[in-house]
Amino acid sequence: MSAPNKSYDPVEVEALKPEEVERARDEAVAAFAAATSLDELKQAKVAHTGDRSALSLANREIGALPPHAKAAAGKLIGQARGAVNQALAKRQTELEAERDARVLVEEAVDVTLPYDRAPRGARHPLTTLAERIEDTFVAMGYSIASGPEVEAEWLNFDALNLGPDHPARSMQDTFFVAAADGSPDSGLVMRTQTSPVQIRSMLEKQPPLYAVSVGRVYRTDELDATHTPVFRQVEGIAVDEGITFGDLKGTIELLVSKLIGDELELRWRPSYFPFTEPSAEVDLQCFVCRGASVGNPDAPCRTCSSEGWIELGGCGVVNPRVLVASGVDPERYSGFAFGLGLERILMNRHNVADMRDMVEGDVRFTLPFGMEI
Ligand code: DAH
Repeated sequence: MSAPNKSYDPVEVEALKPEEVERARDEAVAAFAAATSLDELKQAKVAHTGDRSALSLANREIGALPPHAKAAAGKLIGQARGAVNQALAKRQTELEAERDARVLVEEAVDVTLPYDRAPRGARHPLTTLAERIEDTFVAMGYSIASGPEVEAEWLNFDALNLGPDHPARSMQDTFFVAAADGSPDSGLVMRTQTSPVQIRSMLEKQPPLYAVSVGRVYRTDELDATHTPVFRQVEGIAVDEGITFGDLKGTIELLVSKLIGDELELRWRPSYFPFTEPSAEVDLQCFVCRGASVGNPDAPCRTCSSEGWIELGGCGVVNPRVLVASGVDPERYSGFAFGLGLERILMNRHNVADMRDMVEGDVRFTLPFGMEI
């Protein structure tokens, strides 16, 4: 900046000449107009309004002018700077509006895009059924029991009064588990039934005992429409003073009524199981033909093979030998037990004709059952 000088003639100061000021103003206005982005505008702003811009430098010269020249020079610079600031503000507004419009387009969210394209899974209907069965028994005061799928041969057979010569022990039905040293005699089998859970429950807890257990069992069957080597059973055991076959009947009737409804009839057939005496098998009226196919060759029923009934499972009054093997006094206590096939119940409940559908894990089979909890 020049020092104050009384004889200073403003016309002589190059930076304050009106044509210079106008040129600086016009250059600034043109630079703002030429800026095509906010960044470019910022650079132009620094160049044309910053400390080292022509107008700022000229402004500083005013202080060195003689008093009579200051007003005119101030007005000249002030007007030029006003015009520059207006042009800057105008361009700033325009470029901000352009940016906002562009951001709206670039960052637009298409709210019509589908949001649920990740395929959803489904609960297997056997899982849902198992929970419904457990809920039904929990509501009656039963506890939920469980046992391993690789089971001691003694619990799977001997304790249940299935002697060493019983046909169910033969290689045809049972998957025997080899010992670690390769010898076939490990004393372990893949459980062929959930009945060993009865023994485990009685060994664990003295009566009164009310327990139910749902789980997988294994048999050396080929997989076809009506057989599978892995299937599920629900096992129930009740041991208390004065338990009778009547209690068993009422319990099964209630379970079937809760799961399937009251429309189909139940049939009780005398049967034999080594662990119950007396024993029975329970059949449910065929949900397809309701017995109409029996003795009627013109209207055969594939579901029940025209027998009119579908077998649900076995049951009976616990054999005293089983109570003794489990440490329960048969003089004081009696009990009932039952074992029903879950796949059979599901077939009845939902008209599933082919068992293979239940094991293949295809979500197209499970999805229609919904996510019932
Ligand atoms: N465990 C038998 C089976 O797999 C079914 C069964 C029958 C279970 C009678 C029982 C029962 O508890 O009392 O064929």
